[in-house]
Amino acid sequence: MLNKILPVAVSAVALVALSACGSSSAATPGASGGAAGGKAIVMGFSQVGAESGWRTANTKSVQESAKSAGVELKFSDAQQKQENQIKAIRSYIQQKVDVIAFSPVVETGWDTVLLEAKRANIPVILTDRAVDSEDKTLYKTFLGSDFIAEGKKAGDWLVKDSQGKSEVDVVELQGTTGAAPAIDRKEGFAEAIKAAPQIKVIASQTGDFTRSGGKQVMEAFLKSNPKIDVVYAHNDDMGLGAIEAIEAAGKVPGKDIKIITVDAVHDGMQALADGKINYIVECSPLLGDQLMDLAKKVVAGESVPERVVTEETAFTQEQAKAALPQRKY
Ligand code: AHR
Repeated sequence: MLNKILPVAVSAVALVALSACGSSSAATPGASGGAAGGKAIVMGFSQVGAESGWRTANTKSVQESAKSAGVELKFSDAQQKQENQIKAIRSYIQQKVDVIAFSPVVETGWDTVLLEAKRANIPVILTDRAVDSEDKTLYKTFLGSDFIAEGKKAGDWLVKDSQGKSEVDVVELQGTTGAAPAIDRKEGFAEAIKAAPQIKVIASQTGDFTRSGGKQVMEAFLKSNPKIDVVYAHNDDMGLGAIEAIEAAGKVPGKDIKIITVDAVHDGMQALADGKINYIVECSPLLGDQLMDLAKKVVAGESVPERVVTEETAFTQEQAKAALPQRKY
């Protein structure tokens, strides 16, 4: 039995080491990131990937906050693959880190590995995205946005903008299939547009949260749908890809075809200020400081809320022009 388990475990560790794009960073001397006995807390963090501007900003936030909080961070990039995240988590369990944090690429399929962490007495913090486990004792807390509310904000804006119009045809660029923000932003938007029956989602497909995915799917939508009034993209990057496709088709983004996105990263906000996007719902990637605070509490055995929701807003074109100079990402 042991003969079978050992090679699997060893190769899992090796694979994680290969796929990791970052490595552990030493804690800042003097910063108070102490675990029991005055040692720095060691956090194993499994990131989804580097699929979007949002994700890059989120990684930077986690790495910078770990440094200033004196938390030793072991970072791995799963390249948008669940199997890489599971391997990374198993490796962190083997390394006996003090706490594991991760942003799950998809919602389902986590119970086994989370149970392994629980049995090893390593607390887990979900950051950015949720899992759909029934057993809420498998993780200590979930820090991140309310994605359903984000989808609703996008839909509410469109309902207002569609007043007095007879037919509004929408194409939807969905995020990664099975990911919490893709599921919830779709649901929230669908809920909101029920208030305006003239709004119809005529096509909906995944662009995997990437700019190239958004462009490719939008090209196909433009070919098969002669009338498109609005693009609803689940993130800025896919919206930016759609802009490229719309311009290549000889149409004017923001005018001939209106665009609504989610995130409010720098490139998205610039396109909004330039009139190519019409509305952006904010999703903040700056989760690092809150994550480190929660990690310290969890490791110290203090109680934490089971859900911490990120504060967010939304931007019109005029608001984007005013906000852009102060944006941190
Ligand atoms: O989970 C957050 C989402 O993931 C962001 O909206 C998107 O840009 C990212 O890839």
